[in-house]
Amino acid sequence: MAAHREEFLEKTILKSPGLLKYILETSCYPRENELLKQLREATVEKYPFRSIMNVPVDEGLLLSVLLKIMNAKKTLELGVFTGYSLLTTALALPADGKITAIDPDKEAYEVGLPFIQKAGVEHKIDFFHSDAFSVLNDLINNQGKEEGSFDFAFVDADKKNYINYHELLVKLVKVGGIIAYDNTLWFGLVAEPEEMVKEPLRPGRNHLIELNNILAGDSRVELAFVSIGDGLSLCRRLC
Ligand SMILES: C[S@@+](CC[C@H](N)C(=O)[O-])C[C@H]1O[C@@H](n2cnc3c(N)ncnc32)[C@H](O)[C@@H]1O
Repeated sequence: MAAHREEFLEKTILKSPGLLKYILETSCYPRENELLKQLREATVEKYPFRSIMNVPVDEGLLLSVLLKIMNAKKTLELGVFTGYSLLTTALALPADGKITAIDPDKEAYEVGLPFIQKAGVEHKIDFFHSDAFSVLNDLINNQGKEEGSFDFAFVDADKKNYINYHELLVKLVKVGGIIAYDNTLWFGLVAEPEEMVKEPLRPGRNHLIELNNILAGDSRVELAFVSIGDGLSLCRRLC
């Protein structure tokens, strides 16, 4: 194992909550699309507690830049909720882009839908009111036509299935395409001993530790662990 020097361990970007506030207030909130802002506010009003599930604005801006750099056109979205990351993606794709978006919670999707419609990007979205596993399997079973056809997949759904989704997504995303897993730091708890973690958060911590270990050893993908939001792991398919 590589030796860790103290100064290396200290080399983290965010040294205080004040620094995050600075980043958000200086460059993120002023650049947030007006309809994304409205969707976020409507989510807080409808779901005061669950609204934390929307991806944060700094991560949304990163996703937008990434999708544009990649010239992504065809994407998958696992876990829509009220659609902050979905609208972010829809705004970043070209006019003929297509997103296969999957969530068993249609009511939450409908909270964000008016903002997607106002943004004029609804035509880019095929929403599946379903669980992701069955839709991904259907795509793979579609005479192999969908395999290797997606540029990008954003995974922000049930954490216990991330490792199962990974096996399907490495088939569906094209070589050179990206699979992005959200929440891979799980409130920072992936670095805490299990007994220090409150019971309701333990299963998530354990699922994400398992995923992080699997991704670290998966030679089919190139991996970048981005410490933004709640942790974002970017996997670029190699073969
Ligand atoms: C963290 S939220 C997604 C937030 C969303 N990406 C955003 O930025 O607003 C997680 C979502 O995953 C959905 N979910 C749970 N189990 C799922 C499954 N088996 N397949 C697809 N989505 C699922 C939940 O209904 C919930 O809406």
